[in-house]
Amino acid sequence: MNQHVLVTGGAGYIGSHTVVALVEKGYTPVIVDDFRNATEIVLNGLSEILGFQPIVHRVDVCKLEEMREIFQAYSFHGIIHFAAHKAVGESVEKPLKYYQNNLIGLINMLSLMEEFKVKNLVFSSSCTVYGEPKEKKEVDEETPKSLPESPYGFTKWIGEQIIQDFFKSSPEFCLMNLRYFNPVGAHPSAKIGEFPLGKPSNLLPFITQTAIGKQDCLTVFGNDYPTRDGSCVRDYIHVMDLAEAHVQAIQFLSNQTQGCLEAVNVGTGKGTSVLELINVFEKETNQSLNYQIGPRRAGDVVEIYANASKSFQLLQWTTKRSIEDAVRDAWNWELNLNQLK
Ligand code: WQD
Repeated sequence: MNQHVLVTGGAGYIGSHTVVALVEKGYTPVIVDDFRNATEIVLNGLSEILGFQPIVHRVDVCKLEEMREIFQAYSFHGIIHFAAHKAVGESVEKPLKYYQNNLIGLINMLSLMEEFKVKNLVFSSSCTVYGEPKEKKEVDEETPKSLPESPYGFTKWIGEQIIQDFFKSSPEFCLMNLRYFNPVGAHPSAKIGEFPLGKPSNLLPFITQTAIGKQDCLTVFGNDYPTRDGSCVRDYIHVMDLAEAHVQAIQFLSNQTQGCLEAVNVGTGKGTSVLELINVFEKETNQSLNYQIGPRRAGDVVEIYANASKSFQLLQWTTKRSIEDAVRDAWNWELNLNQLK
């Protein structure tokens, strides 16, 4: 098939797993990443999994001229745009860094798509655009978006608005917003995985780092919420399932005979609480975790999980891996990472 798919942020967590899924389906991924939030370890892992060095360009997506040279070098079948900052807490401390990088990067992609007539774009969006669900904790794509709790969330919310306005002006393009829930886990080979630079803000990497001794103790941010066990509930989706959803999305867009704009939830459809995830971790890995209950974290949504039926109907995609698979793969990756250092 040898169809080139541009993967911006392709050396990142979800991006690198999507590179594997693209190759498995016969596509040729072209990674563009400035490695501000990724390391060469990812490229070594990818080469071991793929059996060859993937194409990589060390370019900042905010540099329009450098990105134009990339578009001149390939005739892209489609674009999967991951490149963005994604730490909720950091976005509150450094909002301009988030607005500048996340929005300029997207605007550059859209303007180069137009210039080079690249029809298909998958945008890495997030369930954050729903904010705190009002009535139902299970959200579908028609659930009204509410104002996000953080600048990071706003860059996804505004990003979707930019895409919608672009589609109105250029309805011949095929565009899809994939709204991720909580990506977790790692490739089963343990050669690539989540690589938080510095102290992890997300739950499962903090759990695995605590279990391996990189962190002293996990703090559960609140157990007095109105949920089944008092801790917050999320929809944790295996990163390989999420990666495969991107390939299905590119295939769907490629098959369209006219332009389209779709938003699709990418989640398991099941909620898991913080305490339940800890319990799954301890059972799956036979490790007892050192954790304490602490105060709530500002900005946390109490409970949210996906109504994932549209992803099945539209993309013929559904999750194949369990939360136990994700926890086991995340732990194996943590163990392997310890060997690499
Ligand atoms: C999950 C739950 C915490 C750490 C964020 C982004 C979202 C997406 C995924 C990109 C919460 C609790 C966490 C800890 C804890 N990113 N927790 N102790 O905030 O749901 O979502 O990451 O797409 O857009 O907003 O994920 O893993 O940070 O938190 O108790 O040390 O775990 O309070 O209830 P979150 P998270």
